[in-house]
Amino acid sequence: MYKLIDGKKLAQAMRADIAAKVAAYKEENGREIGLAVILVGEDPASQVYVRNKIKACDEVGIKSYAYRLDKDTPQARVEELVRSLAVDNKINGILVQLPLPAHLDADKILSLIPFSKDVDGFSAENMGKLCMGEPCLVACTPNGVMKMFESENISLSRKNAVVIGRSNIVGKPMAMLLTNANATVTLCHSKTRDLKEKCLGADIVVAAIGRAKYITADMIKEGAVVIDVGMNRDENGKLCGDVDFENVKEKCSYITPVPGGVGPMTITMLMYNTYLSATRS
Ligand code: GUN
Repeated sequence: MYKLIDGKKLAQAMRADIAAKVAAYKEENGREIGLAVILVGEDPASQVYVRNKIKACDEVGIKSYAYRLDKDTPQARVEELVRSLAVDNKINGILVQLPLPAHLDADKILSLIPFSKDVDGFSAENMGKLCMGEPCLVACTPNGVMKMFESENISLSRKNAVVIGRSNIVGKPMAMLLTNANATVTLCHSKTRDLKEKCLGADIVVAAIGRAKYITADMIKEGAVVIDVGMNRDENGKLCGDVDFENVKEKCSYITPVPGGVGPMTITMLMYNTYLSATRS
Protein backbone atom coordinates (compact mmCIF):
# COMPACT_ATOMS: atom_id res chain seq x y z
CA MET A 1 0.00 0.00 0.00
CA TYR A 2 1.58 3.29 -1.10
CA LYS A 3 1.27 6.72 0.47
CA LEU A 4 1.07 9.88 -1.63
CA ILE A 5 3.33 12.74 -0.58
CA ASP A 6 1.03 15.72 -1.04
CA GLY A 7 3.29 18.59 -2.14
CA LYS A 8 0.43 21.02 -2.44
CA LYS A 9 -0.62 20.54 1.18
CA LEU A 10 2.95 20.67 2.47
CA ALA A 11 3.67 23.80 0.41
CA GLN A 12 0.58 25.51 1.83
CA ALA A 13 1.62 24.73 5.40
CA MET A 14 5.18 25.93 4.73
CA ARG A 15 3.96 29.14 3.09
CA ALA A 16 1.85 29.93 6.16
CA ASP A 17 4.94 29.42 8.32
CA ILE A 18 7.11 31.59 6.01
CA ALA A 19 4.43 34.32 6.01
CA ALA A 20 4.57 34.42 9.82
CA LYS A 21 8.39 34.63 9.74
CA VAL A 22 8.31 37.40 7.11
CA ALA A 23 5.79 39.38 9.19
CA ALA A 24 8.01 39.02 12.28
CA TYR A 25 11.06 40.13 10.25
CA LYS A 26 9.21 43.24 9.05
CA GLU A 27 8.07 44.03 12.60
CA GLU A 28 11.58 43.65 14.02
CA ASN A 29 13.51 45.40 11.24
CA GLY A 30 10.97 47.95 10.06
CA ARG A 31 11.53 47.07 6.42
CA GLU A 32 10.27 44.80 3.68
CA ILE A 33 11.94 41.74 2.21
CA GLY A 34 12.40 42.22 -1.56
CA LEU A 35 12.73 39.75 -4.43
CA ALA A 36 13.66 40.92 -7.94
CA VAL A 37 12.46 38.69 -10.78
CA ILE A 38 13.86 39.27 -14.27
CA LEU A 39 12.12 37.82 -17.30
CA VAL A 40 13.56 38.44 -20.76
CA GLY A 41 11.28 37.62 -23.69
CA GLU A 42 7.90 35.89 -23.92
CA ASP A 43 8.58 32.19 -23.39
CA PRO A 44 5.08 30.96 -22.36
CA ALA A 45 6.27 28.52 -19.67
CA SER A 46 8.58 31.17 -18.17
CA GLN A 47 5.71 33.67 -18.10
CA VAL A 48 3.61 31.21 -16.08
CA TYR A 49 6.51 30.46 -13.68
CA VAL A 50 7.20 34.17 -13.14
CA ARG A 51 3.52 34.92 -12.56
CA ASN A 52 3.37 32.13 -9.96
CA LYS A 53 6.54 33.37 -8.24
CA ILE A 54 5.08 36.86 -7.94
CA LYS A 55 1.79 35.43 -6.64
CA ALA A 56 3.70 33.45 -4.00
CA CYS A 57 5.51 36.64 -2.92
CA ASP A 58 2.14 38.33 -2.38
CA GLU A 59 0.96 35.33 -0.41
CA VAL A 60 3.87 35.35 2.07
CA GLY A 61 4.30 39.15 2.28
CA ILE A 62 7.55 39.45 0.28
CA LYS A 63 7.70 42.54 -1.95
CA SER A 64 8.31 41.54 -5.54
CA TYR A 65 10.00 43.68 -8.18
CA ALA A 66 9.25 42.29 -11.64
CA TYR A 67 11.40 43.30 -14.63
CA ARG A 68 9.87 42.13 -17.89
CA LEU A 69 12.33 42.93 -20.66
CA ASP A 70 11.89 42.77 -24.40
CA LYS A 71 13.22 39.58 -26.07
CA ASP A 72 15.82 41.65 -27.97
CA THR A 73 17.23 43.38 -24.88
CA PRO A 74 21.01 43.63 -25.31
CA GLN A 75 23.44 41.84 -22.98
CA ALA A 76 24.75 45.15 -21.59
CA ARG A 77 21.26 46.26 -20.51
CA VAL A 78 20.57 43.01 -18.61
CA GLU A 79 24.01 43.17 -17.00
CA GLU A 80 23.42 46.77 -15.98
CA LEU A 81 20.10 45.82 -14.34
CA VAL A 82 21.62 42.89 -12.40
CA ARG A 83 24.56 45.09 -11.28
CA SER A 84 22.17 47.74 -9.97
CA LEU A 85 20.02 45.16 -8.12
CA ALA A 86 23.17 43.61 -6.64
CA VAL A 87 23.87 46.82 -4.68
CA ASP A 88 20.24 47.77 -3.97
CA ASN A 89 19.44 47.39 -0.24
CA LYS A 90 15.74 46.88 -0.92
CA ILE A 91 16.55 43.69 -2.83
CA ASN A 92 17.35 40.54 -0.85
CA GLY A 93 17.06 38.06 -3.71
CA ILE A 94 17.65 38.22 -7.48
CA LEU A 95 16.18 35.65 -9.83
CA VAL A 96 16.84 35.60 -13.57
CA GLN A 97 14.27 33.32 -15.15
CA LEU A 98 15.84 30.69 -17.42
CA PRO A 99 16.13 29.97 -20.26
CA LEU A 100 17.30 33.35 -21.54
CA PRO A 101 17.04 34.20 -25.27
CA ALA A 102 19.91 32.69 -27.27
CA HIS A 103 21.75 35.98 -27.90
CA LEU A 104 22.34 36.45 -24.16
CA ASP A 105 25.25 34.96 -22.20
CA ALA A 106 23.35 33.42 -19.27
CA ASP A 107 26.48 32.35 -17.35
CA LYS A 108 27.89 35.88 -17.45
CA ILE A 109 24.58 37.38 -16.29
CA LEU A 110 24.14 34.86 -13.46
CA SER A 111 27.75 35.43 -12.35
CA LEU A 112 26.83 39.07 -11.54
CA ILE A 113 24.36 37.98 -8.82
CA PRO A 114 26.12 38.15 -5.44
CA PHE A 115 25.93 34.73 -3.77
CA SER A 116 24.13 36.29 -0.78
CA LYS A 117 21.25 37.24 -3.15
CA ASP A 118 21.41 34.06 -5.26
CA VAL A 119 18.02 32.69 -4.14
CA ASP A 120 18.08 30.06 -6.90
CA GLY A 121 21.26 28.60 -5.37
CA PHE A 122 22.82 28.30 -8.85
CA SER A 123 26.10 30.13 -8.19
CA ALA A 124 29.45 28.35 -7.93
CA GLU A 125 29.78 29.73 -4.38
CA ASN A 126 26.47 28.28 -3.20
CA MET A 127 27.01 24.99 -5.06
CA GLY A 128 30.53 24.74 -3.60
CA LYS A 129 29.29 25.42 -0.07
CA LEU A 130 26.57 22.79 -0.52
CA CYS A 131 29.24 20.36 -1.62
CA MET A 132 31.26 21.11 1.51
CA GLY A 133 28.23 20.87 3.81
CA GLU A 134 28.38 24.57 4.74
CA PRO A 135 25.33 26.86 5.23
CA CYS A 136 24.24 28.24 1.86
CA LEU A 137 21.27 28.96 -0.38
CA VAL A 138 20.25 25.59 -1.81
CA ALA A 139 18.61 25.14 -5.23
CA CYS A 140 14.84 25.24 -4.68
CA THR A 141 13.63 21.99 -6.28
CA PRO A 142 16.03 19.57 -4.55
CA ASN A 143 15.64 21.46 -1.28
CA GLY A 144 11.86 21.05 -1.62
CA VAL A 145 12.35 17.31 -2.13
CA MET A 146 14.35 17.15 1.12
CA LYS A 147 11.45 18.88 2.93
CA MET A 148 9.14 16.19 1.53
CA PHE A 149 11.31 13.41 3.02
CA GLU A 150 11.40 15.29 6.32
CA SER A 151 7.63 15.79 6.40
CA GLU A 152 7.07 12.03 6.13
CA ASN A 153 9.94 11.10 8.48
CA ILE A 154 11.61 9.14 5.68
CA SER A 155 15.09 8.37 6.94
CA LEU A 156 17.88 8.67 4.38
CA SER A 157 20.85 7.44 6.35
CA ARG A 158 22.29 4.16 4.95
CA LYS A 159 19.72 4.15 2.12
CA ASN A 160 20.63 3.54 -1.51
CA ALA A 161 19.42 6.50 -3.57
CA VAL A 162 19.38 6.81 -7.34
CA VAL A 163 19.06 10.29 -8.86
CA ILE A 164 18.29 10.29 -12.58
CA GLY A 165 19.33 13.52 -14.31
CA ARG A 166 22.54 15.48 -13.74
CA SER A 167 21.40 19.09 -14.26
CA ASN A 168 22.98 21.86 -12.19
CA ILE A 169 19.48 22.92 -11.13
CA VAL A 170 18.18 19.56 -9.85
CA GLY A 171 20.26 16.40 -10.26
CA LYS A 172 23.66 17.52 -8.97
CA PRO A 173 22.44 19.44 -5.89
CA MET A 174 19.94 16.61 -5.17
CA ALA A 175 22.77 14.06 -5.16
CA MET A 176 24.78 16.29 -2.85
CA LEU A 177 21.91 16.83 -0.39
CA LEU A 178 21.25 13.09 -0.22
CA THR A 179 24.97 12.40 0.27
CA ASN A 180 25.12 14.98 3.09
CA ALA A 181 22.15 13.15 4.67
CA ASN A 182 24.19 9.90 4.68
CA ALA A 183 22.48 8.18 1.76
CA THR A 184 24.65 6.28 -0.74
CA VAL A 185 23.96 8.00 -4.02
CA THR A 186 24.22 6.91 -7.64
CA LEU A 187 23.82 9.84 -10.03
CA CYS A 188 22.51 8.51 -13.35
CA HIS A 189 22.08 10.32 -16.67
CA SER A 190 21.53 9.81 -20.38
CA LYS A 191 24.83 7.93 -20.81
CA THR A 192 24.32 5.58 -17.84
CA ARG A 193 24.54 1.86 -18.62
CA ASP A 194 22.09 -0.58 -16.98
CA LEU A 195 19.76 2.12 -15.59
CA LYS A 196 17.11 -0.49 -14.79
CA GLU A 197 19.48 -2.54 -12.59
CA LYS A 198 20.66 0.59 -10.80
CA CYS A 199 17.06 1.66 -10.10
CA LEU A 200 16.12 -1.84 -8.91
CA GLY A 201 18.81 -1.55 -6.21
CA ALA A 202 17.44 1.76 -4.95
CA ASP A 203 15.46 2.44 -1.78
CA ILE A 204 14.90 5.99 -3.05
CA VAL A 205 14.52 7.05 -6.70
CA VAL A 206 14.47 10.73 -7.72
CA ALA A 207 13.50 11.13 -11.37
CA ALA A 208 14.53 14.41 -13.03
CA ILE A 209 15.01 13.40 -16.65
CA GLY A 210 12.36 15.38 -18.49
CA ARG A 211 10.89 12.40 -20.38
CA ALA A 212 7.23 11.48 -19.95
CA LYS A 213 6.61 8.25 -17.97
CA TYR A 214 10.20 7.07 -18.53
CA ILE A 215 10.43 5.25 -15.18
CA THR A 216 8.33 2.10 -15.41
CA ALA A 217 7.18 -0.42 -12.78
CA ASP A 218 9.78 -3.05 -13.79
CA MET A 219 12.53 -0.59 -12.76
CA ILE A 220 11.29 -0.11 -9.18
CA LYS A 221 11.98 -2.23 -6.11
CA GLU A 222 9.05 -3.23 -3.90
CA GLY A 223 8.67 -0.63 -1.11
CA ALA A 224 10.83 2.08 -2.74
CA VAL A 225 10.24 5.82 -2.28
CA VAL A 226 9.74 7.47 -5.69
CA ILE A 227 10.03 11.23 -6.18
CA ASP A 228 8.97 12.61 -9.56
CA VAL A 229 10.48 15.96 -10.52
CA GLY A 230 9.28 15.73 -14.14
CA MET A 231 6.74 18.03 -15.76
CA ASN A 232 5.83 16.76 -19.23
CA ARG A 233 2.85 16.27 -21.53
CA ASP A 234 1.76 12.72 -22.36
CA GLU A 235 0.52 11.48 -25.77
CA ASN A 236 -2.89 13.07 -25.05
CA GLY A 237 -1.43 16.41 -24.02
CA LYS A 238 -2.13 15.72 -20.32
CA LEU A 239 0.37 16.89 -17.69
CA CYS A 240 2.51 13.99 -16.43
CA GLY A 241 5.82 13.31 -14.72
CA ASP A 242 8.91 11.26 -15.54
CA VAL A 243 7.34 8.29 -13.72
CA ASP A 244 4.62 6.00 -15.08
CA PHE A 245 2.59 6.82 -11.97
CA GLU A 246 -0.40 4.48 -12.43
CA ASN A 247 1.77 1.37 -12.72
CA VAL A 248 4.66 2.37 -10.46
CA LYS A 249 2.57 3.48 -7.45
CA GLU A 250 1.58 -0.07 -6.43
CA LYS A 251 5.22 -0.98 -5.80
CA CYS A 252 6.05 2.09 -3.70
CA SER A 253 5.95 2.88 -0.01
CA TYR A 254 5.76 6.59 -0.94
CA ILE A 255 5.31 8.37 -4.25
CA THR A 256 4.78 11.99 -5.37
CA PRO A 257 2.02 12.87 -7.88
CA VAL A 258 2.33 15.18 -10.90
CA PRO A 259 0.83 17.74 -10.66
CA GLY A 260 0.63 18.47 -6.92
CA GLY A 261 3.94 16.91 -5.89
CA VAL A 262 7.36 18.50 -6.18
CA GLY A 263 6.12 21.47 -8.28
CA PRO A 264 4.42 23.48 -5.50
CA MET A 265 7.44 22.93 -3.25
CA THR A 266 9.90 24.62 -5.65
CA ILE A 267 8.35 28.09 -5.42
CA THR A 268 7.82 27.66 -1.69
CA MET A 269 11.55 27.06 -1.25
CA LEU A 270 12.24 30.20 -3.31
CA MET A 271 10.20 32.15 -0.75
CA TYR A 272 12.14 30.44 2.03
CA ASN A 273 15.50 31.28 0.42
CA THR A 274 14.47 34.92 0.00
CA TYR A 275 13.55 35.08 3.68
CA LEU A 276 16.86 33.40 4.60
CA SER A 277 18.93 35.81 2.53
CA ALA A 278 17.19 38.75 4.25
CA THR A 279 17.99 37.36 7.70
CA ARG A 280 21.61 36.76 6.72
CA SER A 281 22.23 40.19 5.18
N1 GUN B 1 13.64 27.90 -15.25
C1 GUN B 1 13.12 26.68 -14.92
N2 GUN B 1 13.28 26.43 -13.60
C2 GUN B 1 13.91 27.52 -13.08
C3 GUN B 1 14.33 27.86 -11.77
O1 GUN B 1 14.18 27.11 -10.79
N3 GUN B 1 14.94 29.07 -11.64
C4 GUN B 1 15.13 29.91 -12.70
N4 GUN B 1 15.76 31.07 -12.47
N5 GUN B 1 14.75 29.62 -13.94
C5 GUN B 1 14.13 28.43 -14.12
